[in-house]
Amino acid sequence: MTTMLTAVTDALLGLYRRAPMELVRGEGVHLYDSEGRAYLDFTSGIAVNALGYNDAGVKRALLEAAESGVLHVSNLYRTGPGEQLADKLVGASFADRVFFCNSGAEANEGAFKMARKWGRQVGGVAKHEIVSLRGAFHGRLFGTVAATDRPQYRNPFRPLAGGIHIHERDLDELAQVITAEQTCAVIVEPIQGEGGVRVLDRGFLQGLRELTRERNVLLILDEIQCGYGRTGTLFAYEQLGIAPDLLTIAKPMAAGLPMGAVLLTDAVGQAMQPGDHGTTFGGGPFVAHVANHVFDRVSDPALLGHVKEMEALMCELLAGVQRRSPKIRAVRGRGLMWGVDVTEPAKDVVGRALEQGLLLVGAGEHTIRLLPPLVINGEALTEGVGRLERAIG
Ligand SMILES: Cc1ncc(COP(=O)(O)O)c(C=O)c1O
Repeated sequence: MTTMLTAVTDALLGLYRRAPMELVRGEGVHLYDSEGRAYLDFTSGIAVNALGYNDAGVKRALLEAAESGVLHVSNLYRTGPGEQLADKLVGASFADRVFFCNSGAEANEGAFKMARKWGRQVGGVAKHEIVSLRGAFHGRLFGTVAATDRPQYRNPFRPLAGGIHIHERDLDELAQVITAEQTCAVIVEPIQGEGGVRVLDRGFLQGLRELTRERNVLLILDEIQCGYGRTGTLFAYEQLGIAPDLLTIAKPMAAGLPMGAVLLTDAVGQAMQPGDHGTTFGGGPFVAHVANHVFDRVSDPALLGHVKEMEALMCELLAGVQRRSPKIRAVRGRGLMWGVDVTEPAKDVVGRALEQGLLLVGAGEHTIRLLPPLVINGEALTEGVGRLERAIG
């Protein structure tokens, strides 16, 4: 395959501070730039590329999906791949129904609308408030940015969507503000990703489940970053001893093609009627065919077991780095989702790691996030953590 080198352009809206190299090729857990330099990938395109790069199964699924000649027909007509994937997701989770969309923020927007419609049905118009938590990130669209706890993402766009409130991750405070009359849903990431890879306490999440159930309030789990195998089970909630009413997923669903989904119970689904929500592209046959392949791979107990093995290795390696480096304040994570708090700005470490040929992403001012592909082996993981240690210095 020939690659065309492009000149740096001003035509793209400047929303990102992009690294300067141009990435042109990927293989396994490595990416290559236009000069042929290799980078070990500890970001997975921000938790998307669970199966790494140039995966033979993904390639086959892409070719098969193209073979039919039908990339898209809209949701006016039935197509097989989306129906098959919905059946698989229902079979593997608490859910009875699935709604497909195109991104994480869209999945959360959909979940908010479903919660509002359900709330109106069971408690009237007053039961419409959505509670989100300190440190949360649920997306950048209008409803989701109101549920995202980052002043720089929110403040320039005020007034934000109404009826969405952020509260402390504290059960006593939440017991004061969550009411049967006014609250329709609480949304929470079991591991807050963008907010600093904060692993929420199991007891806290169980308490929140109890509180929401007691007050007839829906619990929405946002597993867009921490779900789909990343913590060593298909869904993170499986390790928490709770089940939500709605669950949102996206990032790795279709191996880098845009896809998101809301999984929900029948009790919530009954509130939604034809016309209440919709999308042109969501769950289209091309994307869904590839997503069926990804589902089969990430739900395979062998891959999930591998993630658990890599978790143990990551834990051990990072503990060693932390012992040796006074520049590390804390290390935490699950599966292949880890945060390392450093004393200096995280972006400085990310920059030096790039020079070492290691791709990292920050999560707030002082946290580095490690999100390698789930297929990474012990050798590459050890090599990456070594480069991280050198980048921290
Ligand atoms: C937990 C969580 N929710 C929602 C989103 C938004 O997803 P998207 O960027 O696909 O809209 C993200 C993206 O980083 C996320 O990590």
